Amino acid sequence: MISQKMQDALNGQVKAEFYSAYLYLSMASYFESIDLPGAANWMRVQFQEEQAHALKFVDYIIERDGRAVLEAFDNPQSEWDSVLDAFQGAYAHEQKVTALINGLVDMARAESDHAAEIFLQWFVNEQVEEEASVKAIIQQLKMIEGSGNGMFLVDRELTARIFTPPAVAT
Ligand code: FEO
Repeated sequence: MISQKMQDALNGQVKAEFYSAYLYLSMASYFESIDLPGAANWMRVQFQEEQAHALKFVDYIIERDGRAVLEAFDNPQSEWDSVLDAFQGAYAHEQKVTALINGLVDMARAESDHAAEIFLQWFVNEQVEEEASVKAIIQQLKMIEGSGNGMFLVDRELTARIFTPPAVAT
């Protein structure tokens, strides 16, 4: 059993992860609108990853005999100034998610909820990866400085990303 406080916080994270999925699908749609199928693919994979993250939290709450509650969230942003602007938005968003995960770890420690702390470690590591992968794309976009040829190559590279579901076991 988890505490009510922890359950509420984990449900808040379910919402944050689903919101992330929505935001990245919105970015995918933006990239499609400016004819960048590779960047759109990359964001669609991100969308799938975020849904998997949300489900991981839902499953964990249920496993701990809690109640997963779904909450509404605001409309995601739908327009960006450029490809770089969108990826910078994704990076800033991931930094916010990292802060949320760290806050959950702090709560688990304060409550001596060792199971929750161990469960959250997967997300601590995942956030390192998430921030690094977006940062790498931002560096590439900065390097090409808006060149069409460069963008063509970066976009082609982003086409290769495929979704790999995270392990079910927590
Ligand atoms: Fe689920 Fe991108 O954090």
